[in-house]
Amino acid sequence: MKSQVIQSFLHHFESEPLVVFAPGRINLIGEHTDYQEGFVFPAAICHGIHVAIAKNNLNFCRVYALNFDQEFSFELGSMSPKKGHWASYIMGMCALLNQAGYTLRNFDLVLGGDIPVGSGLSSSAALSVAVGLGISQLFSFHIPKKNLALYAQKAEQLFAGVNCGIMDPYASLFGVENHALLLDCRSVTHQEVEIPLGEYCFLLVNSKVSHALSSSAYNQRRAACEESVAILQKFFPEVRTLRDLQAGDLSSIQQLLPESLFPKAKHVITECGRVHQATKAFQNKNLFEVGNLLNASHESLRDDFEVSCPELDFLAIQAGSTEGVLGARMMGGGFGGCLLTLLKDTDVSIFKARIQEEYQNKFHLIPDFIEVALGDGARQV
Ligand code: GLA
Repeated sequence: MKSQVIQSFLHHFESEPLVVFAPGRINLIGEHTDYQEGFVFPAAICHGIHVAIAKNNLNFCRVYALNFDQEFSFELGSMSPKKGHWASYIMGMCALLNQAGYTLRNFDLVLGGDIPVGSGLSSSAALSVAVGLGISQLFSFHIPKKNLALYAQKAEQLFAGVNCGIMDPYASLFGVENHALLLDCRSVTHQEVEIPLGEYCFLLVNSKVSHALSSSAYNQRRAACEESVAILQKFFPEVRTLRDLQAGDLSSIQQLLPESLFPKAKHVITECGRVHQATKAFQNKNLFEVGNLLNASHESLRDDFEVSCPELDFLAIQAGSTEGVLGARMMGGGFGGCLLTLLKDTDVSIFKARIQEEYQNKFHLIPDFIEVALGDGARQV
């Protein structure tokens, strides 16, 4: 992809660009916990977005998206980003950097990626991160990585309308080959944890569904957590977010929260516990335990947090009854996207054949399979 992006840049703009790469991410465990200042366990992957960028002497910026074969121009002084358009993430990052006091000048940019859009691998976070890093390098701004992650999170909130947490851009920036990041979303600091997979691998099954209203459902889940916190603070003033509660508190908070809210709070609290258990299990090279935790996470997301969907539940059940699978769960925001499966290398082809047949029979959709390797974070290449 790097050479295609450079070729395309030379063809469109006839100058020498600098090139950056920002990866997508998977999340091993810890779903819907980041916006409650909880713990997540993501990893950058080798799929991602390349951006080629160079200064121009015009009074506007020109951008081109290789995957869509679309061009777009805008003036830095009068940008009007629209929700849902790829160029909005570029203008969004420019606007956020401007606001933060960085004086941008006009540039040309080409982007190209190999992350399937809508699969829940955070292509939009990767785009924002790539643009932010590209601009930082081009104008020698030396923007700290953590700040870039915060700007990219803001861009997603503004231009996708999703009130998301910090996990996706953070993983894209800080990823390390063969490691996951135990990220504390309160202090916004992480610990790198080696992921010893041995004869096992992570295989994603893309359900190819992306249910409408997923962004409003995401925002509702976040609001439900905030409502629980507001109620609980009357009794426990020291509770700032659900992150401050443990599994041992569940029976007392069940008495205080309405039936509609308790299961959602329970998910966040138990999921944070599973992040710590999974970290220990990886450190002890106990992949069987990791598999059990993935299954438990899926059940909690399905039954308590209610962000799964029939397609993902079906895939999880099929995966669970397939030889060589240690565990599987829906990944990301939910309502579609990918199932993350931990399975034995030698069982991958039988797994693919079986899942494809069962899924096609049931939903008349052909799933995609994506083998992921854990890679390094965003960088100039
Ligand atoms: C999306 C958001 C993240 C996180 C996950 C759920 O990927 O962008 O911030 O909340 O959903 O864990």
